Amino acid sequence: MGIDAELTARTKKRYDRIAGAYDLMEQPIERLFYASWRTRLWAGVKGPEVLEVGVGTGKNMPYYPDGVHVTAIDLSERMLSRARRLAKVLGLDVDLRQMDAQALAFPPDMFDTVIAAFVFCSVPDPVIGLKELGRVCRPEGQIRLLEHMRARSEPLGRFMDVANPLVVRMMGANINRRTVQNLTKAGLQIQRVEDLSAQGIFKLIVAKPRSP
Ligand SMILES: C[S@@+](CC[C@H](N)C(=O)[O-])C[C@H]1O[C@@H](n2cnc3c(N)ncnc32)[C@H](O)[C@@H]1O
Repeated sequence: MGIDAELTARTKKRYDRIAGAYDLMEQPIERLFYASWRTRLWAGVKGPEVLEVGVGTGKNMPYYPDGVHVTAIDLSERMLSRARRLAKVLGLDVDLRQMDAQALAFPPDMFDTVIAAFVFCSVPDPVIGLKELGRVCRPEGQIRLLEHMRARSEPLGRFMDVANPLVVRMMGANINRRTVQNLTKAGLQIQRVEDLSAQGIFKLIVAKPRSP
């Protein structure tokens, strides 16, 4: 199966629609949890070339380490225009581009670190997207992800399955993805999975692009 163009267009439209309200909507959870998790996500980043996938409005930008060159992509032009504004405010030289994570317009082995936060819940085909991350990451490089996923136990997991269609329509994000398994399906070599919350819902994942 290839990229679902219709679903991808719908995802783009959803994020274009919520771009203006995104930062405000996320503010409480950002303050309570995400800010400290982002510090951990970016703590092990190696450069010089870093790719941020699904940059959104640029919420990771304050955590970009010195001395690396960041290229950042997103499907939604409206999210990107907010990211462009923030980069300017922060005085960051980020190469921001509109692009689909499922079809990255970069040659193989281009980046030392490929990183994403809360993105593979909404990429229409996460396995195709994760394969792309593996393709553009150098063999000795690393892939670092901060993601939410389906709860590991029932009945919460089943509740997430039932609620998922409504959440996707409202927010663009799937709440029942099996992201760790998706990394394996994409041929990535998982190095570390850190549980950040109860039920294994939020995780920090570090992986290698492929088996050496
Ligand atoms: C929940 S937001 C997270 C944004 C940001 N990473 C953050 O931490 O706040 C998900 C982002 O992924 C982007 N996205 C979804 N599917 C994508 C795809 N196929 N390619 C690139 N970006 C995508 C959305 O446009 C949105 O900006």
